[in-house]
Amino acid sequence: MTSSGSRLEARRTADGSFSLFSREVGEGFHSGLGALEEARRKFVAPAGLKRWSAGSTVRVVDVCVGTGSNTAALLEALQTRGLNLSWWGLELDPEPLQLALADEQFRNQWLPGTAEQLTQLCASERMLWGDARARLPELVNAQAGQVDLVLMDAFSPSRCPQLWSVEFLAGLARLLAPQGRLLTYCSAAAIRAALRLAGLEIASIDAPSGLALQPHDWSGGTAASPSPLTQQAGLRALGPMEEEHLRTNAAAPYRDPTGTADRAAILRQRQQSQALAMQEGGAEATGAWRRRWGLCSSNHQ
Ligand SMILES: C[S@@+](CC[C@H](N)C(=O)[O-])C[C@H]1O[C@@H](n2cnc3c(N)ncnc32)[C@H](O)[C@@H]1O
Repeated sequence: MTSSGSRLEARRTADGSFSLFSREVGEGFHSGLGALEEARRKFVAPAGLKRWSAGSTVRVVDVCVGTGSNTAALLEALQTRGLNLSWWGLELDPEPLQLALADEQFRNQWLPGTAEQLTQLCASERMLWGDARARLPELVNAQAGQVDLVLMDAFSPSRCPQLWSVEFLAGLARLLAPQGRLLTYCSAAAIRAALRLAGLEIASIDAPSGLALQPHDWSGGTAASPSPLTQQAGLRALGPMEEEHLRTNAAAPYRDPTGTADRAAILRQRQQSQALAMQEGGAEATGAWRRRWGLCSSNHQ
C-alpha cells in the first residue's frame, strides 16, 4: 500500500508490526527490529515505569509521533501498571497516523481500545501539528521542567538534522523534570555531545541481544536526564569506546540557531566546522577511532 503521492509506503516489519518507509527522506520509520519491538525496547523499557506508583500520572512528549507506535506502546504499558498519561505530541505530517489507523493489522496489533485512545490523543489540542521547531517553544513555555518522558524519534541526524540541532535538543532538555528522561534510539556522537551540552547526564540503552553481537551495534540508543541515570537494568554508563567517540569529529554538533535552517544548510555548516576542527587538530578523525576499536560501520557517525 502507498499513500496517494507515494511518499509513504506501508511496510510489515520483522516482528509483524506496521511501519512506513518515507521515499522522500529515504528512510524507514522503524529499525529492522520492527516497530512494536523498537517501541518497547527503546522507549518503553528505558522509561523506567516502575518509578511510579499505581494511580500516578506520567507526563510525556512524543516527538515525531508518526504512526503513533511509541505512544500506543506506552499507553499499554501504563495501563498494565495502573498509571495515567498526560500527553503532548509533535508532528509535521498527519498522513503517517492516518495510514496507520486505516490499516486493520495496525489496529489489531494493539490491545482492544489502544487504537481508539491513540486516535483521541491525536485529535486533541495536545497534538501540536507543524514543524516541531516552531511548536516546541509554546510547549516549553507551558511545561518547562515538568515532563517525565520525552520520546525522541525523528529520522536519523543525517536525514533530518533540523530536529537534532543543539538548539532543538536544548529545548527538549528544558522540558524535563529533574528525574525526567529523554529517550532516543540514536547513539550518534553528535547527539550525545549535544545532550551533554544541554546539561543532561547521558546513559547508553542496551543493544538488543543479537544486535549487540555486531561490533558496530554497541548501543540501542541514548537516555538523557538532568539526574544521573544508570540505576536501572537496560541502561548503562557510556563505556570508554563511547566516551572516546564523543571526542572525535563525529561529535561535531548540528547547529540551527534560528530554528528555520534547511537540511542542506545545517549539513554544510557542520562539514565546514568539522574541516576546521581537523585543520586545527582539535578532534580525532572518526575513522581512526573506528579502526582502533575494530568497528567497521559508519552508522553511528
Ligand atoms: C522516524 S519517523 C517517526 C516514527 C514514529 N515515532 C512512529 O512510531 O511511527 C519521523 C517522523 O518525523 C516527522 N517529521 C519530519 N520532520 C519533522 C519536523 N520538522 N517536525 C515535526 N515532525 C517532523 C515525519 O513526518 C515522521 O512522521
